[in-house]
Amino acid sequence: MSNARTAVLVKPDGLQRGLIGEIIGRFERKGLKLVGLKMVQMTDEMLSEWYVEHKDRSFFGDLKSFMGSMPIVAMAWEGVDAVPVVRKLVGTTLGREAEAGSIRGDFGMSQQMNLIHASSSDEDAARELKIVFKDNELFGYQGAMECVIYAEQERK
Ligand code: CMP
Repeated sequence: MSNARTAVLVKPDGLQRGLIGEIIGRFERKGLKLVGLKMVQMTDEMLSEWYVEHKDRSFFGDLKSFMGSMPIVAMAWEGVDAVPVVRKLVGTTLGREAEAGSIRGDFGMSQQMNLIHASSSDEDAARELKIVFKDNELFGYQGAMECVIYAEQERK
């Protein structure tokens, strides 16, 4: 077990559909700690870096123009095993097939308009957080409820 940070973007469709509060609420209720939050319109340069692993895919251009078409909400969440925990809450890529109870499973139908992005590994999380957050936009603080969210040995 390790305390980790992960990057989340609420995509333009999530913003337009008024799901920001719902999404933040799900992560808060799970016991994750919010350590960064901002609204940002991502540039083509930021998106090329963000989606570098998809640069040769046919949907790369469409994905970048969709993601850059309006502001998104970027978040950094912290917790033990934060990357896989958040991925599970988000659900699989295609909304129509995503598990009921997950964010995409409960609210999404599409593959491109799948509401939300979540980092897929600790390395990706570190890279992605650097694209949208400056060092002084990420915060470290003691969560008042951590003593009832984790047993002491889990927080080390
Ligand atoms: P995400 O997993 O956050 O990051 C890559 C994104 O590419 C994915 O969400 C979808 O929004 C998008 N994507 C994946 N596959 C396709 C596809 N076949 N067509 C269009 N967009 C896709």
